[in-house]
Amino acid sequence: MQDKILNLLKKKESYVSGEDISSHLNISRQALWKHIQELKDKGYDIEAVPHLGYRLASSPDRLFEFEVWRSLNTKTFGRKIFYYDTLTSTIDMAMDLGVKGAASGTLILAESQTKGRGRLGRDWFSPKYKGLYMSLILRPNMLPTQASILTLLAAVSICTALKSSTGITSQIKWPNDLLVNNKKLCGILTQVIAETDRIDFVIISAGINVNNDKKSLISSATSLKEQKKEEVSRVTLLQEILRELEINYLFLEKKGASQILEKWRQSNATLGRRVKVYCQHKHIEGEALDIDSDGGLLIRKDNGITQKVMSGDVVHCR
Ligand code: BTN
Repeated sequence: MQDKILNLLKKKESYVSGEDISSHLNISRQALWKHIQELKDKGYDIEAVPHLGYRLASSPDRLFEFEVWRSLNTKTFGRKIFYYDTLTSTIDMAMDLGVKGAASGTLILAESQTKGRGRLGRDWFSPKYKGLYMSLILRPNMLPTQASILTLLAAVSICTALKSSTGITSQIKWPNDLLVNNKKLCGILTQVIAETDRIDFVIISAGINVNNDKKSLISSATSLKEQKKEEVSRVTLLQEILRELEINYLFLEKKGASQILEKWRQSNATLGRRVKVYCQHKHIEGEALDIDSDGGLLIRKDNGITQKVMSGDVVHCR
């Protein structure tokens, strides 16, 4: 009901009478008043003037389901949303829901995380209302060994969505960091829950620094706000990400991985550079030649031997 009230208010810039809203939605004036109070509590600035009615003065940048669904044109991605003000981590919730059988495309969103986590056991700084913290449950029909293509797919999709919704060009650092001006804007984490030869479900998670102020970020990180010098709508960005993810995922299912790999190559910041990849307790150094069809990074070492790495932390040397 709250979304319907908002739809009516958003249609008009001036006041809409309480009587019109109530009769249009078939609710009592008292029920309308209660919904308006709840919307105000959520941060919507709704002016109420006797004899004129209600006017929506401004909307908060919150990731409420009904805001995400408004003008979202995906088939399944984000059609079921679990939205929270605070979670330990969206991954914990996604794991729980995945085990309980949540449908493919189910999205978990949190406005903040108390134990946000990144790759290689690191923390993910998740201040309230500043970033996008999301986990998407998927149930792909592929072998567990093929699942790493989904990480590349996520990176490519978010990279495209960033460009189309904010104009910002980002580059992908292998395997899945998105950089702007060599600083990290987004991190992606993919977890595969599988039996030996069958994927049960996959969780694709992403953390994006959106409206973080420069001073709250470490020097190797950036935010869209810092880059654009203005606040960015997290809802619009999220809608665009879901759209891109779904397009690429459906394409992958129908036509295979080649287009994803090609898009990845076009947007990457790693290939052709001298890199050091830290994995476990050693590092491999050499020239990053290409990515393999399974997402692995091919490195030509100084002794001329090419070695593939499947995970690790890349440092671009030059
Ligand atoms: C990385 O290390 O680069 C990956 C960062 C992934 C962060 C996101 S934020 C939403 C989801 N919940 C988490 O706890 N982590 C991921």
